[in-house]
Amino acid sequence: MKTIFSGIQPSGTITLGNYIGALKQFTELQDDYNCYFCIVDQHAITVPQDRLKLRQNIRNLAALYIAVGIDPKKATLFIQSEVPAHAQAGWMLQCVAYIGELERMTQFKDKSAGKEAVSAGLLTYPPLMAADILLYGADLVPVGEDQKQHLELTRDLAERFNRKYNDIFTIPEVRIPKAGARVMSLQDPTKKMSKSDPNSKAFISLLDDPKQIEKKIKSAVTDSDGIVKYDKEEKPGISNLMSIYSVLGGLSIEDIEKRYEGRGYGDFKAELAEVVVRHLEPIQKRYYELVESEELDHILDEGAAKANQVAGKMVKKMENAMGLGRKRK
Ligand code: AQP
Repeated sequence: MKTIFSGIQPSGTITLGNYIGALKQFTELQDDYNCYFCIVDQHAITVPQDRLKLRQNIRNLAALYIAVGIDPKKATLFIQSEVPAHAQAGWMLQCVAYIGELERMTQFKDKSAGKEAVSAGLLTYPPLMAADILLYGADLVPVGEDQKQHLELTRDLAERFNRKYNDIFTIPEVRIPKAGARVMSLQDPTKKMSKSDPNSKAFISLLDDPKQIEKKIKSAVTDSDGIVKYDKEEKPGISNLMSIYSVLGGLSIEDIEKRYEGRGYGDFKAELAEVVVRHLEPIQKRYYELVESEELDHILDEGAAKANQVAGKMVKKMENAMGLGRKRK
């Protein structure tokens, strides 16, 4: 069986963007791959976090992984900071990465733009992400489109390490979904939907209640011609909503266009809200059963034990290849 690794930051409650771009793919792949899914809390602290909120977000995200359909019997679910090998391997890969290539990452440029103080961790985040993936020998990494550049860097770092030290890393492939690879903000459809957007009207979180969902979709920014037609360039707002409808409602874009011909945005938005609410209902129900349960701790303990075993072995191989520590018999 081939191996998959992917992670999500607990930097807020996951959005429809994270769900459609990443989580939904995870559930579709778990039967056919040896899967590792991670709550990458060390990535979240590259920007300031409130400690109590972060703790809660970590737990919420773990419960949401299971609630959307990740089966802990099939996949290993764990928290990054509970597996020290990630930080260890991340450091070694920082020493393989060049500052210039890290400064070229668009996520670093976006997140540091206009900020007075930027943490060094924001710059060195991609080698830690590379470590996350390479530690498990992942063949495939399912992510949304925004992570494509980081994946390319991961491949470069792995190839550089293999060439320079020892051929120990599998070179991973990226897997981006055909539909919904980049869900856009509801308030600015030229920007991607993000869970840490300060304007909560810009995203739908997986835990929003039906009234919030209805309100956010109603106030989503669209053009004013009222024609439900997919045109990413000229009509980015309505096209984004149509993509969400298509993935969650199971209709093709053409079917949606036909269905709403001559009906205007009001009708379309009201029915899209129903589609989203219906889709999230069972996920939220399962989430509330799980979030404070001992079952969740048990799943995370088992996940950390398995991940520590696998990742610990790879760290030893990396240290050996680089000549760290003492030679062991
Ligand atoms: N808008 C999006 N559309 C499709 N996929 C998306 N992803 C994120 N936003 C979208 C995918 O979700 C996975 C987890 O992302 P992450 O939490 O590791 O970091 P991110 O990409 O920076 O996501 P956010 O929501 O924008 O977080 P913040 O606000 O903290 O920066 C990844 O596979 C990502 O591609």
